[in-house]
Amino acid sequence: MPKICFVCLGNICRSPMAEFVMKNLSKGQPIHVESRATSGWEHGNPIHPGTQKVLTQHHIMFDKTKVSQRISIKDFAAFDYIIGMDKDNVRDLKRLSKGEFTDKIYLFTENGVPDPWYTGDFAATYDLVMRGCRHWLSFIVEKGSR
Ligand code: 4NP
Repeated sequence: MPKICFVCLGNICRSPMAEFVMKNLSKGQPIHVESRATSGWEHGNPIHPGTQKVLTQHHIMFDKTKVSQRISIKDFAAFDYIIGMDKDNVRDLKRLSKGEFTDKIYLFTENGVPDPWYTGDFAATYDLVMRGCRHWLSFIVEKGSR
């Protein structure tokens, strides 16, 4: 079963949004989805209220007990697709994995997803996340566990 991990800076805005959008889109398919942070800044903190609100507006179920977790070396080994939400995330992932898991590290979309922590625009983030997740789901269903 392909295992996917979405990764952003804080694991409270973009990557949990992608995690739960993907879980919703992939319902009934054998795909495992989680999310992580490149930083420990938000460690233990819940999903940002802006992300919770936009997921609720779109009737996307999410885990209210999910808290931010930094990606570990174990995670790099365990996941098949480690998908950074922007270019900085991808750069940090390559640094954190010490070049060992570069073949599993991807950029979510060509231009990345701007951080709503700074833009405040969670609706625009949702549109980009939904579009990207549709693309990733069809790609991964086709490719499987690589
Ligand atoms: P995220 O957004 O990477 O999409 O979860 C951020 C969350 C927290 C911070 C930055 C970005 N922060 O500076 O704590």
